Amino acid sequence: MNILVTGGAGYIGSHTCVALLEAGHTVIIVDNLSNSNSETLDKVKQITNREIIFYQIDVTNEKAVDNIFAIHDIEGVIHFAGLKAVGESVEKPLPYYYNNIVSTLVLANACQKYNVSNLVFSSSATVYGDNTVPFVETLNLLPTTNPYGETKVMSERILTDIAMANPSFSVSILRYFNPVGAHESGLIGEAPNGIPNNLMPYVSQVAKGKLRKLRVFGNDYPTVDGTGVRDYIHVMDLAEGHVAALDKITAGVHIYNLGTGQGTSVIELVKAFEEANDIKVPYEIVDRRPGDIASCYADASKAKRELGWIAKRDVISMCRDSWRFEKNNKDSGTSLWLSR
Ligand code: NAD
Ligand code: UD1
Repeated sequence: MNILVTGGAGYIGSHTCVALLEAGHTVIIVDNLSNSNSETLDKVKQITNREIIFYQIDVTNEKAVDNIFAIHDIEGVIHFAGLKAVGESVEKPLPYYYNNIVSTLVLANACQKYNVSNLVFSSSATVYGDNTVPFVETLNLLPTTNPYGETKVMSERILTDIAMANPSFSVSILRYFNPVGAHESGLIGEAPNGIPNNLMPYVSQVAKGKLRKLRVFGNDYPTVDGTGVRDYIHVMDLAEGHVAALDKITAGVHIYNLGTGQGTSVIELVKAFEEANDIKVPYEIVDRRPGDIASCYADASKAKRELGWIAKRDVISMCRDSWRFEKNNKDSGTSLWLSR
């Protein structure tokens, strides 16, 4: 199929493009490069030995998006483009609501106009809020405590309503748990700007010596060792989940958790990283981070049952691949960050 991939130069989008190209699809990427760069696309070509079509446009730009649909015979859309920093969304809610909601509306509108009936949307486990684990797709959603999370809840709602009103439309809502790791080649991976907020990039940068030590946010949660438990999923497993979702397109709204179903604590992840890479990761216990929940992991049985998809890569592979990419990735601002 000809797949339009919005945000295809980003972390999850670029890995998904690799999986799509390897499965024989053609990809047309649109990305404004606000949180990525075009070198990643060269790496995707290098890994797959396939050509890709790329447009540097903003998905909130209705005219530009319309033009892409007019030029290409698009058969499916995967919508990754969006802003994703939780803390920043609290400080600057307006760009988060504008970017994440308007991009979804613009794409849905173009799909209707050009009779493209398949759309896959990047949602997040954050929509479950502080529910009881494991999170199953049928749970009532709880408030997310931040504008980023609310944009995911709202986008899910908008796409569901559109699909309800258009019986031939297929929407797959994929709720990602905690994507980590990198392509096995070490050529593409997650390269956050500035000091990372998420655990795995922070651990990798401590291992590299870019950051002094990991701060573990709380050890008094009701979990195995008191530290927060999450469902880390290898980004290539996640990428393959998108290919599986596209293979099973049927009209209606389909919601899938993409996770492993296994919870791993912060300390367990640090130990796995040290074991996988034979390197020390110094850490200290500090206060809880506001807004964090104790445990978040998936009931991943629906994706297995309906898509035939399961996550295959374990936590050791996630740590090994994250570290390989971190080692290959050029340093920037090292001396500045060492003050942390
Ligand atoms: P990312 O920032 O690496 O990728 C997003 C890409 O979208 C970037 O390349 C950025 O330049 C582009 N973009 C942003 N706004 C755009 C716009 N208006 N027009 C065109 N391009 C635009 O993020 P990611 O981690 O790859 O996340 C992809 C999607 O998955 C996002 O929607 C994110 O909310 C969702 N998600 C991510 C995680 C995670 O932990 N990474 C977890 C759950 C859900
Ligand atoms: C965060 C986002 C969530 C998003 C998810 C995707 C918040 C509140 N939530 O979730 O919306 O969908 O990323 O990746 O930001 N930790 C430390 N030290 C650190 C960093 C993290 O101890 O320096 C701990 C956290 O307390 C948590 C675990 O590591 O227990 C994972 O944290 P993180 O990687 O930020 O992901 P989430 O909090 O699950």
